[in-house]
Amino acid sequence: MQHFLSVKDADSIESLLAQALYYKNNPFADQALGKGKRLGCLFLNPSMRTRLSTQIAAQQLGMEAIVFNVGAEGWSMEFEEGAIMNGSTVEHVKDAAPILGQYFDILAIRTFPGLQDRVADYAEKILNQFVKYAGVPVLSLESATRHPLQSLADLLTIEEEIKSSPTTFSNRKPRVVLSWAPHIKPLPQCVANSFAEWVNHWGKADFVITHPNGMELDETFTKGAEIIHDQELALAGADFIYVKNWSSVQQYGKMAEGDMHSWMLTQERLAITNQAKVMHCLPVRRNVELSDQILDSTASLVNQQAGNRVWAAQAVLKNLLQTYE
Ligand code: CP
Repeated sequence: MQHFLSVKDADSIESLLAQALYYKNNPFADQALGKGKRLGCLFLNPSMRTRLSTQIAAQQLGMEAIVFNVGAEGWSMEFEEGAIMNGSTVEHVKDAAPILGQYFDILAIRTFPGLQDRVADYAEKILNQFVKYAGVPVLSLESATRHPLQSLADLLTIEEEIKSSPTTFSNRKPRVVLSWAPHIKPLPQCVANSFAEWVNHWGKADFVITHPNGMELDETFTKGAEIIHDQELALAGADFIYVKNWSSVQQYGKMAEGDMHSWMLTQERLAITNQAKVMHCLPVRRNVELSDQILDSTASLVNQQAGNRVWAAQAVLKNLLQTYE
């Protein structure tokens, strides 16, 4: 694995899942693999789960993980080619990235989309410049359009649940529904894009996406999924519901118009599912995106998902470290 930026970098989702599951049972099995190797974790945006799970995963592989909160503590970075830097930016990525490539064996980066310029965000302008100039493997900790480590942990969570109910899924695929949820501000499409992309590539689920009209995701990610605008219809018979807000792709970065409260998952709607488990990447705005009642119930898998972030990161880091063998 040269880099880990999207599902396309995973030679086999199945083997990544198996590796992650192996590490969950044997966290320190490959302590020697990362000895003498350094992971640089650059955060241009906030994080809790991604930051800590990636650090823990690296340490369990024997690596040293150093976190740099560029957004809060670093020089303001410029990403525009040919920029005349007489404004607020102080350091060009062309200068910073090769230095970081000397300091670190693997560079991990979190950068959110600006949600102003769709073309720039969907070209992954920031992440791709680190890939271009750093000269070392780059690991996405969530970028403008994707969150692949989250998606791998999500699939691991679904797979664990399937394995714990072998009779239920002995002769059918699980019905997995990605369900749009209300929010108070415009959010990136990353988690939804990535989840759709990974589930489609995985191919082991009947995959449905439900959202209000106007909140269509880019077809690059959703192709292969069934899109149903009626949430109740989509949820009928669901085994897993992934709840997530995203802002509009067409009216780029805009929130859905009108009162969207009815899109919040309720206990009544859960009753029409196949005792579905409920997923969310966190952080979650309680009683806006998901109710206390659901989040605090046995239907919720959110803690399991967050815990699985460690094993997903460890499986991916192992693959990236193997480029040095
Ligand atoms: N789900 C997730 O990426 O969480 P953080 O933003 O806390 O890293």
